[in-house]
Amino acid sequence: MASYFIQTWGCQMNVYDSDRIRDLLNAQQDVETDNIKDADIVILVTCAIREKAQDKVFNQLYAWKANKQYKENAIICLGGCVASQEGEACIKRAPMINVVFGPQTIHRLPNMIDEVRNTDAKHVVDVSFPDIEKFDYLPSPKNSGSSAFITIMEGCSNFCTYCVVPYTRGPEVSRQVEDILNEINALTAQGVKEVNLLGQNVNSFKGLYEDGTECNFAELLYLVAAIEGVERIRFTTSNPHDLSDEIIQAFADIPKIADAIHLPVQNGSNNILKRMNRKYTREHYMNIINKLRAVRPNIYISTDFIIGFPGETDEDFADTMDLIEQVKFDQSFSFIYSPRPNTPAATYEDTTTLDVKRARLYKLQAAINNQAQLYSREMLGSIQKILVDGFSVKDKAELRGRTDNNRTVNFVGDPKLIGSFINVRITDVMTHTLRGEIVEE
Ligand code: 5AD
Ligand code: SF4
Repeated sequence: MASYFIQTWGCQMNVYDSDRIRDLLNAQQDVETDNIKDADIVILVTCAIREKAQDKVFNQLYAWKANKQYKENAIICLGGCVASQEGEACIKRAPMINVVFGPQTIHRLPNMIDEVRNTDAKHVVDVSFPDIEKFDYLPSPKNSGSSAFITIMEGCSNFCTYCVVPYTRGPEVSRQVEDILNEINALTAQGVKEVNLLGQNVNSFKGLYEDGTECNFAELLYLVAAIEGVERIRFTTSNPHDLSDEIIQAFADIPKIADAIHLPVQNGSNNILKRMNRKYTREHYMNIINKLRAVRPNIYISTDFIIGFPGETDEDFADTMDLIEQVKFDQSFSFIYSPRPNTPAATYEDTTTLDVKRARLYKLQAAINNQAQLYSREMLGSIQKILVDGFSVKDKAELRGRTDNNRTVNFVGDPKLIGSFINVRITDVMTHTLRGEIVEE
C-alpha cells in the first residue's frame, strides 16, 4: 500500500488517462493524496501541444525539488505527451524522474513502479505504442458524478503540419464497439446520465464489432443513444474534414445529442489551411455549418484557432475575422502558433513579429467573447434543460447545472436534484454564468 499524488495537464484525453491510472492504483490498494509531501509516488501527466505547456513540466519538477516538496525517496513518474515525445531524454533534462510512461502504456505503470522499487533500476522507460490495446488491461472505470468521459478512439493519422499528436499518441486506433457500449452501460448503472465520447478525431472512428464487421461514428451515436439511462450525448474532438453527412443526419435523428458541437477550424484563410494540411477549405467548413444549422437551428458552434501560423499575412487574418463574422462562434480556444520539434511547420519561414501575433489574437478573442455575450443575453427568459452537477461555487446554499451550450446556471433548489436533468428559466445573465429558477413540470 502506497500513497500517490497525481498532477494532470492538457486535454480531456489526459484527464481520462489520469482517471484510469487512479483506477489501476486504487485496485492495488494504493491511496491518492492531494498533498505531494505525503506521496510515495508522484505522477505527472503532461501535455506537449505548445512549448509553454512542455516547459511547465520541467519547471514544476525543479521547483518541487528546490523546495523539497516531495519525499526524498518518492518515485517520480512522468507520463502523457511530453514523456511520449522525449522518452529517455526526459531523464537527461530532469534526472529526478524514475519512470517514463506514454499515453499507450499507462496500464504498465504499476509494474514499472515495482521495478524501480524492487530492483537496482533507477530509471524505467516505456513509451511504446503496443499492438495490444491498453484498454484490455484497465479495470472498468469508476465514476462518482452524473457526467462521464469515454474514450472511443485514440491517436491521430491526419498529420496537420503544426501538430505533435500523431507522434505523441500514435496513429488512430478505435476501440471495439461492444467494449465501448459495455463501459457506458456500467457507467449509467453508477448514475451517469451524460456521456462525452472522446478521441483526437472521433469523426473518423472505425471500430469493429465482435463479429469483425465495422462501425463508423454515426452508427456508434445511434447505438449510444439507444442505451437506457443515457440522456445527453456530447463528443470531442471533431475534424471538419471527417464530419460526414451521416453524422449530421444523427443530429437530426437523435435529440439526446446536445445542441452544441466543438468543431476546430484553426484558421479562416484557405492559404493557411492548405499549409496546415487541414484538407478542407473555408467554403467546405461553412457548408458543414449550414447543414448542421439546417437540422439544428439552435446549435452552438465552438472552435479552436491557431493565430500567427508561419506566413500568415494581414489578408489571411482578415479572412479569419470574416469567418468569425459569418459563423458566429459561441466560444473558441485560440492560441498563438508554437513551433513543435519534428513537425513540418517548424521549418517554415516565419517573419511576423510576436507583437503583431498578439494584436491579432486579442482582436479575435474580443470578437468571439462579444458574440458569446450576445448568445448569453439571448438566453434570458428562455427555458433550458440543465444537468445538475453540484453546489454553486460561490454560494453553497445554491445548486449548479450545465446547459447544452456548456453554460453554468446557478439556482435555488433541493440538493436531491443533484445528478438529474431539470428545466430552468434563465433570469439573469452574468459575465461567466447565468442565473435561473426551476420550472415546475
Ligand atoms: N501551436 C499552437 N496551437 C496548437 N494546437 C495544436 N498544435 C498547436 C501548435 N503547434 C491547438 C489547435 C488544436 C488545439 C488542441 O491546440 O488549435 O485544435
Ligand atoms: Fe496535449 Fe495533444 Fe497530448 Fe492532449 S493529446 S495532452 S492536447 S499534446
